[in-house]
Amino acid sequence: MPNTFYITTPIYYVNDVPHIGHAYTTLACDVLARYKRSRGFEVFFLTGTDEHGQKVEKAALANGETPIELADRVMPRFQALWEKLNIENTDFIRTTQQRHAKGVQKLFLHLKEQGDIFLGTYEDWYCTPCETFWTETNLIDGCCPDCGRPTEKLQEESYFFRMSKYQQQLLEHIEANPDFIQPRSRRNEVLSFVREGLRDLSISRTSFSWGIKVPDDDKHVLYVWFDALSNYITALGYPDDAKGNFAKFWPADVHVIGKDILRFHTVYWPTFLLAAGLPLPKKVFAHGWWTVEGKKMSKSMQNVVEPNMLVEKYGIDPIRYFLLREVPFGLDGDFSHSSLVNRINSDLANDLGNLLSRCTAMVNKYFDGILPAAQSCNEEDEALVELCRERMETVDKHMDALAFNKALTSIWEIISAANRYIDTNAPWTLAKDESQHERLGTVMYNLIETIRLVGLSIEPFMPDTGDKIKETLGLSATEGLENLSAWGQIEPGSTIKKAPPMFPRIDPKLTQC
Ligand code: MSP
Repeated sequence: MPNTFYITTPIYYVNDVPHIGHAYTTLACDVLARYKRSRGFEVFFLTGTDEHGQKVEKAALANGETPIELADRVMPRFQALWEKLNIENTDFIRTTQQRHAKGVQKLFLHLKEQGDIFLGTYEDWYCTPCETFWTETNLIDGCCPDCGRPTEKLQEESYFFRMSKYQQQLLEHIEANPDFIQPRSRRNEVLSFVREGLRDLSISRTSFSWGIKVPDDDKHVLYVWFDALSNYITALGYPDDAKGNFAKFWPADVHVIGKDILRFHTVYWPTFLLAAGLPLPKKVFAHGWWTVEGKKMSKSMQNVVEPNMLVEKYGIDPIRYFLLREVPFGLDGDFSHSSLVNRINSDLANDLGNLLSRCTAMVNKYFDGILPAAQSCNEEDEALVELCRERMETVDKHMDALAFNKALTSIWEIISAANRYIDTNAPWTLAKDESQHERLGTVMYNLIETIRLVGLSIEPFMPDTGDKIKETLGLSATEGLENLSAWGQIEPGSTIKKAPPMFPRIDPKLTQC
């Protein structure tokens, strides 16, 4: 049986249209999913939309729609963007689907029947945009400590989940599993939050109706986070599919999230699971936030970066590359058009594009497009081979740690080394001397083999580019990374086409939206 890998994005609220922040999380997951697939894993990659809650209800009302009309209108915009960005998700869950509601209600009943959910009265300060209750001491000048907006005092009958009961067990789990919450700084944040003590959690509302009904008490709807977090198991068929996907893929290998929703995923969700007697996800990785040209991205600032526009202007692969190369995964970063254009021109057009076009053109010019064999190797050749071998291993290590930018840096070290190798060996000079024909063949073989490795390892990041490289080198489209670090896989005698132009240089003056 193949190894399985279950990876999830957060499910996106439908009261907002997709922007670069959403695209970032989904892209990162797609890169990891593709990488794992290429390593032979059976991958389940889940994304979807979070369609319930007061926020969605209010947005729909303001727009003169029903909540489901709003969801039906916005959800396809997420799906269309994922298609455009070349995202290969396995499933797409909507929280308004029957399969989800059924699973969430079963989870509620399970916890209620064993006494972990009870009916009480809730009174506290509520931040509607964040869907979060705060105690008086949490507030900053009466406002939400997370988003700074005003809060309102709410009192209502509510079902509570006995979260406090699971505090010790959660703490022990976090302490015993150093990789459970990443990066480390986030883990420390959660540890101190849990050590301060967990309150029981209000998990139902009576003040609005757009949500999944509480079983047997339908004046209550379930709190949107109880509903939303459960998507990670309902999409696998919980609780009915005990022998199918649920048994096969749960626990998730990684939930990728933004840092703003850390507590929901590392405190609420694990305690629900502990109560239900289910295993916890192996890892929750929280990435940072993007600012735009140095400023917080917001509708009111009118600086929201729209991914469709970016793709139309710069192409899919350059955007995929940029977002994962520019900022270490886990830290905040700044999006600017000038840094995007710089990266496209220097990393893609100059480094990668030139390597591909120069090498494939030379094999065509000097060997009629038929790859020569490598003959005797000198020290410089050995150094190139060794560098490839070593960096490919490093790429593996970085991918497993979700250190995407480091993986790309390692790949680009190979590209730079190959470009230097061209310059020091000057094939155009060797070509003028008949006695150097064999040496010329060795140089070309080594370069094309290096390009093969580069093509395979950048494929998860830039699938179209990976495919074009394979096609140019005459490799089968399904060739994966299984033999990643193995040198010498491309057969002498293979037909090498001229690489098509892939990354046209962009005039830096055209950097405005
Ligand atoms: N619906 C909840 C998630 C429920 S998961 C069970 C939600 N949705 S969201 O649409 O508001 O946000 C989804 C993701 O987008 C979050 O991981 C969030 O961090 C990410 N981003 C939103 N804005 C962002 C940036 N400016 N930069 C990076 N990521 C950002 O939260």
